[in-house]
Amino acid sequence: SDKNYILAIESSCDDTGAAVILDNKILSNVVASQKVHEEYGGVVPELASRAHQQNIVPVVDQALKQANISKEDLKAISYTRGPGLMGSLLVGGSFAKSFSQSLDIPLIEVNHMQGHILANFIEDANDVKPTFPFLCLTVSGGHTQIVKINDYLDMEILGETIDDAAGEAFDKAGKILNLPYPAGPIIDKKSKIGDPTKFKFAKPKIDGLNFSFSGFKTSILYFIQKEVKGNPNFIEENLDDLCASIQRSIVDILMAKIKQASDETGIKQIAIAGGVSANSEIRARLKEGEEKFGWKTFIPKFEYTTDNAAMIAIVGQLKFERNLFTDRTAKSVAKYHI
Ligand code: KG4
Ligand code: ZN
Repeated sequence: SDKNYILAIESSCDDTGAAVILDNKILSNVVASQKVHEEYGGVVPELASRAHQQNIVPVVDQALKQANISKEDLKAISYTRGPGLMGSLLVGGSFAKSFSQSLDIPLIEVNHMQGHILANFIEDANDVKPTFPFLCLTVSGGHTQIVKINDYLDMEILGETIDDAAGEAFDKAGKILNLPYPAGPIIDKKSKIGDPTKFKFAKPKIDGLNFSFSGFKTSILYFIQKEVKGNPNFIEENLDDLCASIQRSIVDILMAKIKQASDETGIKQIAIAGGVSANSEIRARLKEGEEKFGWKTFIPKFEYTTDNAAMIAIVGQLKFERNLFTDRTAKSVAKYHI
């Protein structure tokens, strides 16, 4: 075949992903999510790498099958080089290197954070694509960043979290409320019937465009501990209002910083990526920004916002078109700057 099919591998955290792309179109996007972490209330790195090791071959096989191609049709392999958990990155990276070597096709390294952002350019990700420059708020269980995108492969981090990620703030707050992991989607659901103004929690005071969520989490913990002393059923009796108030606080923090970034740069195109972009309140508040601040907002389809290989595939394609290939001796990097 003379078509430029590219296979992509994602294994930075707890999802094993493989996808095939051809001319901006995703032909398959397979994700094996790991259930082993649920009972621990968070991702256990050692268990994650073991699960990747089990999942990677079947996930790739399925991605090729769903794309209706054989491995000989592939023109390149892109993979997540970082950032992420080292043990997890090594599994996907080693697989991608070996596969590209055995097929004798180029290897393309991808920065996971660039992947989240550039998922906006997958053909069916959204109806309208952003133009340069635009801002992206990347918020998930592992990351919280505001990035200015000057061109496909030219980005600057304007702000990021100095401690916990936004998704972690949801999940850790949920843990305090005895909700299962990940708590983000549950808090979102309960918030719909709760009163967001009932409880107030300390908002971080962080200069510039950086974020901090650890003090916020501690303020929830102390508040709950104090209330539960007086009333052991406090959490159960106030669960919806607690969820709504926590969600309101987190979304307020995120919105304030993205607004500040927009004001400071004069950029009114705002994209959002990462698992937390599924949150109904952040979506609604961003949309509100279109009316209130003249923004144009971009929220990719859900399957392209959580960790997935399709976003690694679109970056792989962009680099393939530019002949940006990677040596097979490239090391995986846990902290990988955009
Ligand atoms: O992108 P993702 O699937 O994986 C990474 O962490 O990279 O994001 C997962 C995070 C979790 O913290 C989860 O609680 C959060 O996204 N999340 C949500 C919602 N759906 C997922 N947080 C708030 N509201 C949601 N609807
Ligand atoms: Zn991610």
